[in-house]
Amino acid sequence: MAEERHMMWTEKYRPRTLDEIRDQSEIVSRLKKFVEERSMPHCLFAGPPGTGKTTAALCLAHDLFGERFMDLFMELNASDERGIDVIRTTVKEFARAAAISEAPFKILVLDEADNMTGDAQQALRRTMERYTDTCRFILCCNYSSKIIEPIQSRCAIFRFSPLGEGDVKDFLGWIAKNEGVDITDGGLGAIARISEGDLRRAINLLQAASSLKGEIDEDSIHRLAGRIEPRYAKEILELAIKGNFSESRKRLRSLLLEKGLSPLDIIRQIHGEIFQIELQERDKLLLAEMLGEADFRISQGGDPEVQMSAFLAKLASLSSRPRG
Ligand SMILES: Nc1ncnc2c1ncn2[C@@H]1O[C@H](COP(=O)(O)OP(=O)(O)O)[C@@H](O)[C@H]1O
Ligand SMILES: [Mg+2]
Repeated sequence: MAEERHMMWTEKYRPRTLDEIRDQSEIVSRLKKFVEERSMPHCLFAGPPGTGKTTAALCLAHDLFGERFMDLFMELNASDERGIDVIRTTVKEFARAAAISEAPFKILVLDEADNMTGDAQQALRRTMERYTDTCRFILCCNYSSKIIEPIQSRCAIFRFSPLGEGDVKDFLGWIAKNEGVDITDGGLGAIARISEGDLRRAINLLQAASSLKGEIDEDSIHRLAGRIEPRYAKEILELAIKGNFSESRKRLRSLLLEKGLSPLDIIRQIHGEIFQIELQERDKLLLAEMLGEADFRISQGGDPEVQMSAFLAKLASLSSRPRG
């Protein structure tokens, strides 16, 4: 086994039992019922990355099966290029073995189920039905709408939400203390904000930051994450609104060229700031639309500087227009 200090913190701090899962309290209480009743339906776990879907499946299996859970639990990735054939063979063998163990059923987790084609999902549905006595499926996906209706209707659906910023920060603070990471409250807050409720991303960022020298603060986190500090985005917008187009453009250039930040990251952050600044509501919408357009053009290979300059020029023209 890898030495503990080389371990990924996402694994080291992954909850082992349902009681250790943060947030998602409604989901946890529904899953605990399955444990009490020692029975469960097929399940669909839907939600954004890093919110505890795989973790919840592991914890459920652990609480149901105790020490034997390794034999009775299996995880497959549905995006595996060998696709539905692997799933079918695995389930067949898995189900056959289940019959000789004393467990009432086994659990098969299928990650990224929403990447399966419609045909593969149809085949999966037949497999699920065929082995339903011995095998329960937990399908994980980002979007439940990409799962065919006949599967959805056979599953209990669980919707995982992004974790709250406060909860993420608390959890990070606890890990930091445990690992002896010297990080300020502002630094923890910055990670929590950047990770947007994705705990995997948050923990990975904290682990990456832990190798920095000295005290880790908000600035060091922003640098590490390749993000601009929120005030930069705001200043660029405010300069343009005041009609100081050239200064605003100069700042933007320096972020792009000297700091080497990704144009799309900058756009997305500026997008977040639009709604914080003083402008008429319909102008904000107009700008948001323009940024969306710039985002699209840049991702299609358009020159970021040209696209962003056009945006700032528009902003400057809006602010010089008489209000009314
Ligand atoms: N609700 C949660 N409570 C505690 N830890 C969590 C939670 N959600 C995610 N994590 C942490 O983030 C990592 C990724 O979680 P995972 O369950 O694999 O996410 P996904 O929803 O993408 O399957 C885990 O290793 C765990 O440490
Ligand atoms: Mg997962």
